[in-house]
Amino acid sequence: WKTIDELDLAGKRVLVRVDVNVPIEAGRVTDATRIERILPTVTDIAEKGGRVILLAHFDRPKGKVVPEMSLKQILPALEDKLGRKVAFAEDCVGETAQAAVDALGDGEVLLLENTRFHAGEEANDGDFAERLAHLGDAYVNDAFSAAHRAHASTEALARLLPAAAGRLMAEELSALEKALGSPERPVVAVVGGAKVSTKLDLLSNLVEKVDTLVIGGGMANTFLAAQGLDVGKSLCEHDLAETAREIAQKAADKGCTLLLPRDVVVAREFKAGAESEVVKAEDTPADAMILDAGPDSVAHVEMALENAKTLVWNGPLGAFEIEPFDRGTVTAAKKAAELTRAGKLVSVAGGGDTVAALNAAGVSGDFSYVSTAGGAFLEWMEGKTLPGVKALGA
Ligand code: 3PG
Repeated sequence: WKTIDELDLAGKRVLVRVDVNVPIEAGRVTDATRIERILPTVTDIAEKGGRVILLAHFDRPKGKVVPEMSLKQILPALEDKLGRKVAFAEDCVGETAQAAVDALGDGEVLLLENTRFHAGEEANDGDFAERLAHLGDAYVNDAFSAAHRAHASTEALARLLPAAAGRLMAEELSALEKALGSPERPVVAVVGGAKVSTKLDLLSNLVEKVDTLVIGGGMANTFLAAQGLDVGKSLCEHDLAETAREIAQKAADKGCTLLLPRDVVVAREFKAGAESEVVKAEDTPADAMILDAGPDSVAHVEMALENAKTLVWNGPLGAFEIEPFDRGTVTAAKKAAELTRAGKLVSVAGGGDTVAALNAAGVSGDFSYVSTAGGAFLEWMEGKTLPGVKALGA
């Protein structure tokens, strides 16, 4: 794909697709990470004399104008982080947008209203994409985290104008390539989270690509139950036992070592400070639930990390949002951070909960790369081609 260095930017109207779908509470942005991560692209284009026209979605208004989902809410945070004034247009196409674009000078920045206020966006509608294209001379996609959506502003538009990947997009793609495309081996993947059902394709793809696959979180219970263990009251998808056995078999066939918890932290209640105990996985009491990996299991994960050159991490090992069930995730994350700092491990993490867990462990800054993507990271781990990336000619 092209980078912005290959585009003629001075005096040009540059449509920049960004992902500023950030958490907002009472009208205030509570985590500005995604805004911060687009700054290099926006600043660079502006400094080269380009007229930056930001295109973005917010939430899921489903083709209707929903005032609570207006991008205007993120304007103060954007201006603050950017350190520049940002103009705003109340529509992303038509006369309002056109007038705002016409008023834009070289090096200035404009944010257009939520693209998803128009049904044409999610329909990847050609006419809607043409209307967007009409506003610019070039297109830059800096929204890796929305690249799994084939929408007009992420897909069709890339085919209508000279197109390039923004700095963040390029950074995400090269980090992911390093982690799974052509990684240094051995590669360990840590996959956690509540349900196997949401990560079937991902697990199936990973056992083909990595040397060790650590399965944690609620989904590990499904694998334990599939081996005939009684997991008591634990979260478990019993109907997926056969699927779990197939994945385990595929791992064995492909030479991928599957690491499942050997000991587990169990409790009778799921609340902060609940009384808990460590038992062997096969000794899970009938009236208890598994809420974290036990110390022996975590030690095995740490050992796998010590022997690895590359780590790709998605999903917590336990119910990390409630203490003390965050311990497994925090311990393993700290180990990965320490090995990364020592230059022994390339560590790449992504997916909503994962970033929250790494932040809680205070180690996200120590990982080699933390993706801004949630769903897009998962689809990439599933081995899928992301339409927004493909449209850039990648
Ligand atoms: C995200 O938050 O993962 C992206 O902004 C995509 O949002 P979506 O799942 O609503 O398409």
